[in-house]
Amino acid sequence: MHRNLSKAVVMLALAALVLTAGTAFAAGTLTMGTNAEFPPFEYVEGDAVVGVDAEIAAEIAKDLGLELVIENMAFDSVIPALVSGQIDIGVAAMTVKPERLNSVDFSKTYYNARQACIVRKDGGVTDGETLYGAAIGVQNGTTGDYAAEEYSETIERYAKALDAVLELAGGKLDAVIVDAPVAQNIIDALGDDNLILLDNIAFEDEFYAVAIPKGKPELVESINQTIDRITQDGTLDAILLKYFPATEEAE
Ligand code: ARG
Repeated sequence: MHRNLSKAVVMLALAALVLTAGTAFAAGTLTMGTNAEFPPFEYVEGDAVVGVDAEIAAEIAKDLGLELVIENMAFDSVIPALVSGQIDIGVAAMTVKPERLNSVDFSKTYYNARQACIVRKDGGVTDGETLYGAAIGVQNGTTGDYAAEEYSETIERYAKALDAVLELAGGKLDAVIVDAPVAQNIIDALGDDNLILLDNIAFEDEFYAVAIPKGKPELVESINQTIDRITQDGTLDAILLKYFPATEEAE
């Protein structure tokens, strides 16, 4: 009897510990890691990181009652930073990939994207056939990087997709593979008529989600609830509309 009681007390204490451990954030903050070189999902404006993902993360933080802190880092540092506990969540237009699920968990997905291939109008790459063996620029460690590997061994890896596109514009590369919404955004921003998107290569659907350190089911659950809420109450549509030209299909 006495033994059972103390056992129950220990179990309760353990349960309390597990629960609080899962929601104990440094000084009431939620630290999001991202690579703010990916407009319109994340980019630097003045001193701030803004974009679709920053706004989604703000909704997540609001629902958790935490203050959002954003850490800007290389894209291929986001997963290591989650694993080492340097950041609480990764919101970086990150595509859910089986390989990534070995290191982190993902929330529900919030955006459907695809890769796109940018070329020069006056260049030699016009389709999947001519892309084989071409000099392809990518952002290091992205799904564009993996997609490029299907076509060529000549891959130049950059910290920023923009730098790859500038090299393409300057004639140093034959093509750039990057997420379609970002490809369009960069082309529009550069205003270079010689840069076009190929529409004849069938890339796979990709889905973006929030990356979360493994072993935090309550955090995943809370983020999923926020994603449900902003999907249902129109907040997500409003955020997408704000960052995508009205002429473009947001999803
Ligand atoms: N969706 C691609 C991936 O998951 C590219 C993401 C790049 N994100 C960024 N913030 N730079 O690999």
